[in-house]
Amino acid sequence: MLKLKNISKYFYTNKEKQIALDNINLEIQDGEIFGIVGKSGVGKSTLLKILSLQLKPDTGEYFIDNKNTLTFNTKEKTTFLRSTSFVYQNFSLLYNLTVLDNILLPLKILKVPKDVQIKRAKEMLEFVGLSHKANEYPITLSGGEAQRISIARALVTEPNILFLDEITSSLDLETSFDILDLILKIHKTFKPTIIFISHQIDAIKYLCERVMLLENGKVKRIEKISNHKLKSYTYEELLWQS
Ligand SMILES: Nc1ncnc2c1ncn2[C@@H]1O[C@H](COP(=O)(O)OP(=O)(O)OP(=O)(O)O)[C@@H](O)[C@H]1O
Ligand SMILES: [Mg+2]
Repeated sequence: MLKLKNISKYFYTNKEKQIALDNINLEIQDGEIFGIVGKSGVGKSTLLKILSLQLKPDTGEYFIDNKNTLTFNTKEKTTFLRSTSFVYQNFSLLYNLTVLDNILLPLKILKVPKDVQIKRAKEMLEFVGLSHKANEYPITLSGGEAQRISIARALVTEPNILFLDEITSSLDLETSFDILDLILKIHKTFKPTIIFISHQIDAIKYLCERVMLLENGKVKRIEKISNHKLKSYTYEELLWQS
């Protein structure tokens, strides 16, 4: 379980204090698909960086499985970091490596035995439906395919928590829903906690079990999504009712 208590984060530009996150309180349960939605600049990615221990808050406390992260030693922090993976909007693939080598990279860094590396990478490639692309270079991939490869690379280390930052924002509506279906399949198969950031309320409604609306660094509201997984292609139905 992830628990934020009175978390604030400030940035200073030209000595001017800017409040990026303002007194955030939040609990995310293990295995939950949790959405964070809000306009550009409201603090979504900053919150994700705090949840993933990439950034320290200026006030408040962050508990992971009831342990205060302020007291984490290096080993505890490393263990947590290794149990998490990220996927971003821009895929972040290395263009001088083949698709398979991109997926192998995290396992090489973790010094996983070579035969295990290859086996797992190939399994993940199959899981995302792109085994036939193993020896291609990322330049040959469509946006949707590139995102599937980024997802395979994120999965290969068997994370407990998946942080997904705007992963469908550069894709068309139909490809976006294909990617969301893949995320649902991942959730069903591996049961990770999924934290999904988006400014697209349609994507949030389809994927998430609960959603938090951020406004100017503050929690505007947190609510359950009663009938998620409902696919709707009409923009009228997708408008956020606030
Ligand atoms: N490292 C930083 N230094 C200074 N200001 C920052 C830094 N990171 C974020 N900010 C500021 O904090 C605010 C929140 O940024 P954040 O990236 O969290 O927004 P966001 O909701 O993810 O936006 P988007 O939807 O455009 O990705 C913004 O005003 C941003 O300029
Ligand atoms: Mg962002």
